[in-house]
Amino acid sequence: MTTALITGATAGIGAAFARRLAADGHDLVLVARDTARLREHATELHDGHGIEATVLTADLATEAGIAAVEERLRDRRNPVDLLVNNAGFGNKGRFLDVSVADELTMLKVHCEAVLRLTTAAAGAMRERGRGGVVNVASVAAFVPRGTYGASKAWVVQFTQGAARDMAGSGVRLMALCPGFVRTEFHQRAGMGTDNIPGWMWLDADKLVAEALADLARGKSLSVPDPRYKALMGVVKLTPRSLLGGLTSRTGRKYGPQ
Ligand SMILES: NC(=O)c1ccc[n+]([C@@H]2O[C@H](COP(=O)([O-])OP(=O)(O)OC[C@H]3O[C@@H](n4cnc5c(N)ncnc54)[C@H](OP(=O)(O)O)[C@@H]3O)[C@@H](O)[C@H]2O)c1
Repeated sequence: MTTALITGATAGIGAAFARRLAADGHDLVLVARDTARLREHATELHDGHGIEATVLTADLATEAGIAAVEERLRDRRNPVDLLVNNAGFGNKGRFLDVSVADELTMLKVHCEAVLRLTTAAAGAMRERGRGGVVNVASVAAFVPRGTYGASKAWVVQFTQGAARDMAGSGVRLMALCPGFVRTEFHQRAGMGTDNIPGWMWLDADKLVAEALADLARGKSLSVPDPRYKALMGVVKLTPRSLLGGLTSRTGRKYGPQ
């Protein structure tokens, strides 16, 4: 039996990872801030699939929260075989509309927590000669999209660099870049979604299936779905000045401040 630890496991993409990994027979450690919701999910997954699902309440925007998850990942007696760094959020508003404190919180969750948890997990995995880390970034990593896009670009660069450094160790690291997925993300960030065309929405369960298949293939970057693979091909050929305007119009509509 192997164990997977998933951050942001209460909703959206993280919950989809938990469902799929439980169905595949993995024990789980579910991490997020909402303990009641985590417990509810853990019970459902245990009852539905007969796996052990443990709850670890942690706010990854805090030192104590990151440290608690690091400690769990370093526990040699209860090894974690797969880490999914998925917790994340969007801030409501563009540059200067968002306080520096909120931007720094995003960097703490998207970058510092991902760096520290990946380091804790990969060190223990290297000793065992096996393991996997999936760091959830975004296709926003490839377009000018404020602190959010910049933080996700860091996740991609960091993960692919670490994957290269760990080659031959038995530990696989992969950055996952989803397009738009119907989750709680946009509502929590106060973003309107009616200007996002229907064809751009991905299903979280299909996204996770494709991501895990890419991890098994040994990829260090996963952009699930042919639509987004094609779109990312176009993005590479488009001047950055044009990209900024296009991506501002799609998916960055904020409600009243
Ligand atoms: N949805 C999209 O269109 C999309 C596209 C590309 C990339 N992504 C990325 O996918 C990841 C998951 O997003 P989602 O769409 O599934 O969003 P979601 O439905 O809002 O879920 C976010 C999860 O992260 C947890 N979380 C948020 N802040 C946290 C913190 N400080 N500490 C611990 N847990 C925290 C939330 O649980 P609690 O509130 O209980 O803590 C929740 O479980 C994010 O990294 C996001 O950037 C999403």
